[in-house]
Amino acid sequence: MPDVASVTVTPLSPVLGARMDGIDLHRPLDEAAFAVVHDAFLRHQVLCFPGQHLSADDQIRFCGYFGRADSDYKAPASQLAPADRTRADYRKGVMLVTNVRKDGVPIGNLPDGDMQFHSDGAHRPNPYLATTLYGIRVPREGGDTLFANLYAAHDALPPSMKERIEGLRVHNVYLLDATDAAEFDADDPRMRHAVHPLVRVHPETGRRALYVNRLMSRWIEDMDRAEGEALVAELVAVSERPELVYAHKWTQGDFLIWDNRCVNHARSDFTPDEVRLLRRYTISDAA
Ligand code: OGA
Ligand code: MN
Repeated sequence: MPDVASVTVTPLSPVLGARMDGIDLHRPLDEAAFAVVHDAFLRHQVLCFPGQHLSADDQIRFCGYFGRADSDYKAPASQLAPADRTRADYRKGVMLVTNVRKDGVPIGNLPDGDMQFHSDGAHRPNPYLATTLYGIRVPREGGDTLFANLYAAHDALPPSMKERIEGLRVHNVYLLDATDAAEFDADDPRMRHAVHPLVRVHPETGRRALYVNRLMSRWIEDMDRAEGEALVAELVAVSERPELVYAHKWTQGDFLIWDNRCVNHARSDFTPDEVRLLRRYTISDAA
């Protein structure tokens, strides 16, 4: 059990993120320790616990403090042609995010290269509350995970735009394992769709977040399609402003959790010559 007094919280950037030292997540957290973690999570939106040695069970236990750890195995969709991906492949749960291949076939998901900004599960009726990633093997260069602060994106809008978008709903679409919106056609009947408030009031902080992203968000409900697309494009551009983004450079043993309700994330490119292996569990609302 960590002694809460020795836990430190150090901001990772001016825009979001904090590093927490003095906590060994291989051990259960008591109530006092979780209170410190939860407070930092709400305040900083992304937390990094460096130097961890975590089993899958450790990671599931940690997820369980926040909500329900999604622990089903996801199909490694990268093994499936897009046309073969079914609803069953969209199970919630654990996956390896990795470029490791066996007989030339990726053993996990999202194997290669860069990935556009998105919020995990925004194409589902109940998006994931948070996502955790544990860095088992990381490349020396690149493969950073980028985080964008969606509270700050909403704050950055002019008052007239805030007024215009309040109450609007955004239509999100996704094809499992896609890393770029150009990889799939939103009108393809196989796509998963969901509609969500464009301005998302965070249930725990009460703050407004601009819930829109480049990979999944397409148009606005009850608005002319072209007009909606233009509005989405304008808001996406705000959400990706460099001053709202923190790029996390991975060190082996880093354990990250981020709040999908107020953070978008993306990935920078990296060489296929180095191994990148992360263990990922999502967290859903407990209810
Ligand atoms: C994810 C994801 C980014 C990364 O696991 O949901 O978007 O850096 N990963 O691999
Ligand atoms: Mn993701």
